[in-house]
Amino acid sequence: MNVALVGCGNIAERYAARIVESEPLELVGATDLLPERADAIAGRFGGTPYRSLDALLADDRVDAVVNLTAPQAHATVTAAALEAGRHVHTEKPVALSYGEARELAELARRRDVRLSCAPATFLGEALQTVWKLVREDAIGRVRVAYAEANWGRIESWHPAPETLYAAGPLVDVGIYPLTALTAMFGPVRRVSAYGTMVQPERMTKHGTPFRLETPDFTVAVLELDGDVVVRVTATFWVGPGKQRGIELHGERASLYVAAWAESDARVESSDDGEAYTRVPLVRHPYPGIDWSTALVDLAAAVEEGRPHRASAEHAAHVVEVMNAIDSSGRNGASVEVTSTFELPAPMEWAR
Ligand SMILES: NC(=O)c1ccc[n+]([C@@H]2O[C@H](COP(=O)([O-])OP(=O)(O)OC[C@H]3O[C@@H](n4cnc5c(N)ncnc54)[C@H](O)[C@@H]3O)[C@@H](O)[C@H]2O)c1
Repeated sequence: MNVALVGCGNIAERYAARIVESEPLELVGATDLLPERADAIAGRFGGTPYRSLDALLADDRVDAVVNLTAPQAHATVTAAALEAGRHVHTEKPVALSYGEARELAELARRRDVRLSCAPATFLGEALQTVWKLVREDAIGRVRVAYAEANWGRIESWHPAPETLYAAGPLVDVGIYPLTALTAMFGPVRRVSAYGTMVQPERMTKHGTPFRLETPDFTVAVLELDGDVVVRVTATFWVGPGKQRGIELHGERASLYVAAWAESDARVESSDDGEAYTRVPLVRHPYPGIDWSTALVDLAAAVEEGRPHRASAEHAAHVVEVMNAIDSSGRNGASVEVTSTFELPAPMEWAR
């Protein structure tokens, strides 16, 4: 599958590096509103530096667009690529509002192309191991999950943090455990949330002040279809110190995964909820985050005529959940969630 990147900022090099290493993928080019960024990616990893999205979409060699723009541009770029008959893999979130997300999923269906959506870290070895243990009833029926997305003050490392702060930590990092937990247990039906701005005045690492308009601290309680209660925390203030990863509490035992992004995260289990012992992963893991996993699955799914695992319907559901959390956090009332999606298939090697 010939892929081209749209958006060549902070994350683009990590995607490009994995795309050029991955057998079924070919990097044919890249574009960015800042042309020197596309030149840099093409210079380092190969392909054509296109001067615009239109120029990229005019190249018949491009089978799939990888949307790595800022969250606020995702929906427009994805819609243009789908309209042009291209498959799309988009970074998260697929769109900022559920209405837009659902329209994109429908547009992909109408145009008979695929829309694959990050985060797809539930396809990595650590979360696939946890999910397999849950399916095999290793800890009994899971009733409670705790998920931590404490991501710290990202202006300390990100060169342009403003667009990520505008989206907020729930949308930027809370989305990882939300996607993983709904992949395992199914859709959310109701949310109750609290959000606040712990530190509204911030400064980029280049010394430019900016002011937050989205909570930098959110706690939400979610009721899932299968009677699982989830408590998720997302913040851009507290760092990922001791409270990190995901805990699953079943009727007989508990499971812990130390991170929801890295494929090689530590997985542990406990019979008494106090002493945890390490669990071996289902296979030797990729070290860290493999940014090509969802794209490789997309290429194989198209080839084999089966659904791809990081589906647009699932991503749209997660956007509805995040919109509901935002609304509940603002007005204090619990909010119902109505959308649904087909659960993804586990990876072949983790069945
Ligand atoms: N940086 C990370 O560690 C990281 C990790 C995982 C996911 N992501 C996701 O990846 C996406 C990009 O994040 P980033 O950190 O690289 O952001 P960034 O701001 O560094 O880069 C975004 C790039 O997109 C370009 N752009 C914006 N609108 C565009 C448009 N309409 N057409 C073409 N180019 C456009 C910008 O000029 C910029 O170069 C976000 O959705 C983010 O959530 C980032």
